[in-house]
Amino acid sequence: MTHVNIIGAGGMSQAISGVITSGGHTVEVFTKADTAKPVTADVVILAVPYPAVAGVIAERAGQLAGKVVVDITNPLDFETFDSLTVPADGSATAEIAAALPHSRVVKAFNTTFAATLTSGVVGDTPTTVLIAGDDTDAKTLLAGMIEAGGLRALDVGALSRARELEALGFLQLTLAASEKIAWTGGFGLS
Ligand SMILES: NC(=O)c1ccc[n+]([C@@H]2O[C@H](COP(=O)([O-])OP(=O)(O)OC[C@H]3O[C@@H](n4cnc5c(N)ncnc54)[C@H](OP(=O)(O)O)[C@@H]3O)[C@@H](O)[C@H]2O)c1
Repeated sequence: MTHVNIIGAGGMSQAISGVITSGGHTVEVFTKADTAKPVTADVVILAVPYPAVAGVIAERAGQLAGKVVVDITNPLDFETFDSLTVPADGSATAEIAAALPHSRVVKAFNTTFAATLTSGVVGDTPTTVLIAGDDTDAKTLLAGMIEAGGLRALDVGALSRARELEALGFLQLTLAASEKIAWTGGFGLS
């Protein structure tokens, strides 16, 4: 059994918590009111908006050393819905990894809307969580928890693939925001 800490208590936190606890693992959620409480788990999921990540890192970089840190963010410019806020040749995950050189940073969950984590399907297709990172053991650990929770997980490659995952997440968000697809749908993988 793995114990997981999730920072942030919004929609994705609840959906991911549901998946992880369904698989027999345990979750502790940290709200903004818990900033003085240290994270203790080996796996820490950052389920906050991308602009809030820098503050979490400033508060907790020391605590996150040695831990698997899961970045789920889609770093969009939510005013224009027309661009990412990270460099075109980089990613939010790469920036987080650079800020946390002693952590094992992976990207996951950014291409799956919360509703599809809860329902387990995207249309007729089982929900697949895409994972990118340079630490194979970290990706395997996370994939095992996702699969135990009833979803599919796929290792899509190195941390450098986070850029493509963020592009995919960006496109999916624009499609849902413009009502071309439902927030209960999205990209499926068969
Ligand atoms: N929703 C989706 O379907 C989806 C899909 C893929 C990826 N994502 C990504 O997942 C992340 C979370 O999205 P969400 O939809 O769950 O957003 P949300 O419902 O707005 O939840 C964000 C949570 O983060 C909390 N928070 C902000 N700063 C914090 C801090 N310093 N410490 C602790 N908690 C803090 C917020 O608290 P307050 O409410 O008090 O501000 C809120 O509970 C985002 O990066 C988003 O891009 C979302």
